[in-house]
Amino acid sequence: MKFNDFFGNLPPSYVFAGLAVKKNLARKKWGDELIDLGIGDVRLPLFGCVADEMKKATDELTAASGFRGYPPASGYDFLKDAISADYAKLGITADRNEIFVNDGAKGELFALNSLMGGGSKIVFPTPCYPAGLEAAILHGNEPIFVRSDDNGAPIPPFGKQCDAIYLCSPSNPSGKAMNENELGLWVEYALSVGATIFFDGAYSDYVQGGGIKSIFLVPGSKKCAAEIRSFSKGYGFTGIRLGYVVVPQEQKELNDLRKRLSGCLDNGVSYVTQRGGAACFSEKGQAEMRKRVGYYKTNAAILKQALKAVGIKSADGNDSPYVYSECPGRFTDEAFCALLSDKAGVIATPGRGFYEQGGEFFRLSAFAPRKEILAASDRIRDLDI
Ligand code: MLT
Repeated sequence: MKFNDFFGNLPPSYVFAGLAVKKNLARKKWGDELIDLGIGDVRLPLFGCVADEMKKATDELTAASGFRGYPPASGYDFLKDAISADYAKLGITADRNEIFVNDGAKGELFALNSLMGGGSKIVFPTPCYPAGLEAAILHGNEPIFVRSDDNGAPIPPFGKQCDAIYLCSPSNPSGKAMNENELGLWVEYALSVGATIFFDGAYSDYVQGGGIKSIFLVPGSKKCAAEIRSFSKGYGFTGIRLGYVVVPQEQKELNDLRKRLSGCLDNGVSYVTQRGGAACFSEKGQAEMRKRVGYYKTNAAILKQALKAVGIKSADGNDSPYVYSECPGRFTDEAFCALLSDKAGVIATPGRGFYEQGGEFFRLSAFAPRKEILAASDRIRDLDI
């Protein structure tokens, strides 16, 4: 068999797989006292109203009359309608034939890359979520890196030709949520070079204040953007797996190809999962989500305070469950994460995992129970750095 040579262009392991190895080593010293703020995996349980709906759906499947086999390739209409209604609250139209239900953002980024012929040029503001970039590399596409300001939005490289653009807002890892003007510049750039924006809105539930929740609020965006959303971080679905992408009919060819891909990509997402997803949009589900997002954001604020107390500067992004910070002067990201692990028993992700292009940074995830966040904060305050 001839293997895909592009694997040679990837680091030896995905950042969080590499981190898991380091975490297991640190556990030998710290045992149960180890606090994992590395991978952004939610730790609080599923909402009761969502679980109840999934139980009901499972019960239905036990009767011949309620049994269902393969789901529709692009998702059940009941979930698409709930998604449309959610967009309608923002004044955005998203029709059933524009919504493709999937099992999360990572797979969707892979799927969208497979719609491009290899050799496409894709702009990636860095630091960036590694899965989108690695999907591009594996498909033989060429990344063009644009450095984001530490606290600001990335600026489009006007005049430079590209085929696609990956934007994540609020950004993983920096937490920056772009506002309408900032995203407007990207839409203008995409339209000027004929590129498609893959807008990763996995953290849209965390937007408050100045940022906007959807790129489709920007005039002209339906002609050039596809928007990816996820149930992982707002509704606790990292284990259950559910998301969707909206590909507007204004981009007919892209929409047609995405539809065609649904037929050969997989056999869709389970009925039980999609019923849980629809329950997320109920009044109760929305209230739970807002509470949960508030909890994780408070965690992030607590961590930021502790870092500040020892002189560590964090990115401004408040619309996020992550804290992205500069390493103290003499440390590389790897060295500082090793120190945090060894001296504080706290696992952090080095900035280079996000293809950081401009300095030494690290990311802390705030998806942990409050008790662990407070313990981690105390240990950080006690660090001698
Ligand atoms: C993270 O940034 O921690 C991610 O959401 C984990 C992943 O890559 O799936």
